Amino acid sequence: MKNKFVTTPIYYASGEPHLGHAYTSVLADAITRYSNVWLQQDSFLLTGLDEHGQKIFEKAKSENMEVLDFVEEYNASFKDLYAKLNVKYGRFIRTTDKDHEEVVKYVWNKFLENGDLYEKEYTGLYCIDCESFKTDKDLNESGQCPDHLKKPIELKERNWFFKLSKYQDYLLDLIDGENLKLFPAYRKNEVINFIKLGLQDISFSRSKEKVSWGIPVPNDDTQTIYVWCDALTNYISACNYGNLNKESKNDFHEMWEEGDTLHLMGKDILKFHTVYWPAMLKSLGVSAPKEILIHGLITSGGQKMSKTIGNVIDPVVVLNEYNIIGEKSVLSRNLSTDFFRYFVLKNISPFSDGDVTVERMKELYNADLANGLGNLVSRVMKLSEKYLEAQEDFAQVDLSEDHSSFANAMKEYDVMNAMNYIWKLIGEADNYMQTEQPFKVIKIDEAKGKEQLRFLREKVYTIARLLNPFMPSTSEKIKEIVKANKMPETSIFPRYE
Ligand code: ME8
Ligand code: MG
Repeated sequence: MKNKFVTTPIYYASGEPHLGHAYTSVLADAITRYSNVWLQQDSFLLTGLDEHGQKIFEKAKSENMEVLDFVEEYNASFKDLYAKLNVKYGRFIRTTDKDHEEVVKYVWNKFLENGDLYEKEYTGLYCIDCESFKTDKDLNESGQCPDHLKKPIELKERNWFFKLSKYQDYLLDLIDGENLKLFPAYRKNEVINFIKLGLQDISFSRSKEKVSWGIPVPNDDTQTIYVWCDALTNYISACNYGNLNKESKNDFHEMWEEGDTLHLMGKDILKFHTVYWPAMLKSLGVSAPKEILIHGLITSGGQKMSKTIGNVIDPVVVLNEYNIIGEKSVLSRNLSTDFFRYFVLKNISPFSDGDVTVERMKELYNADLANGLGNLVSRVMKLSEKYLEAQEDFAQVDLSEDHSSFANAMKEYDVMNAMNYIWKLIGEADNYMQTEQPFKVIKIDEAKGKEQLRFLREKVYTIARLLNPFMPSTSEKIKEIVKANKMPETSIFPRYE
């Protein structure tokens, strides 16, 4: 079986993690766990932080902080959040890591050797929040960056340019021929249309005078490597590209070239990943990633989450809120973790924009977890405890045979539909309980009643198994309860009143 190599974007170390960051990372973690558990692939999740560039430098300065101290704080916040969300990564990379910096310089020199870099005067616009060069057609009617609602700054400086235009035909073939497969499929046309508009070469450095916080250009001490060139390279520096780090156990060929590589991100950074990045790799003579999953952006109450509107959902606040419910549950603090994971994975489509409100979270907690999953396990296990012997082994589950629509959904990274499938099983088991009424049957025909209960207990076990990549602690706890054939006094998902 091939390795699976899954990545999230490396987020800017310039603010506390919010719901959007948590979403991409939980989604990536669930996919990685799925490959591990159900496809028996050796799976590796890469995540981390983007620490260089003008935006971070200026933010640190405005807070009167040393840049390294400034980014350190957010490292702590992100790692702390990952622990609370049970996001298990193989590496947490930072662009200030020495091994990463070495690979970026190595990559730069290769571009130079291949004749893909040249010097030119850049005159134009730059959005510091995007860390991106803009043209007039990228802006709204008021001349602002549509993502950040700010006017870009005007730049006039001599930079090193990367010959992106040279890779136009290569990129069209790559994406059209699906050697780089995009999920959801409709993104393919979007990217092809963008490439067909014509690709301009891109500035790949900034003048050191203006941006000193970054990796120096090896062959020109007046320049700093452009933050996106630096950041995108993390995906291969983490695999020990160039074999520069003799201490690393990562084998580039195995992880990247041979592996099932999958990048995840929001649509905000689609262009960087589907156009710039494969062109950079082509210049290096390295394979393109195999797959890219582009999800939508989450809004709250129909509006972009923003501090000014006051509708930003802070994952830590949500987790704290549900920790109170966790105090009354056998899951204790794992309740908030698995609730959060359940919530984003089942209720936000990975293929379109999603809207989230805290009110809706509570409703869904009660409907799907307290009344749905929790109630089913408790009813079945109370009867099982009373009437059945304990059972140690349960039939093996063959995903492609027994749950093919679940397996197919996961193949397309349609995690929301895979979750819906699990809740369909929960609904079916509930229905069975209601229509067959084993609790009545058992008093008239013991053998038949027991058979019905065994059937239900087996279903509960299967549901727990399927839940593993998405709600790992809940899955383990339910399996434990079923094997012990004993429903604990405290419930799994107490109602949120
Ligand atoms: O772009 N809904 O970092 P970033 C869903 N450092 N996901 C969201 C979101 C929202 N409202 N807001 C953010 C950068 N995200 C660069 C990346 S990669 C080589 C460098 C998630 O901190 C989503 O994954 O702005 C989005 O693509 C990412 O955070 C942007 O994070
Ligand atoms: Mg951003």
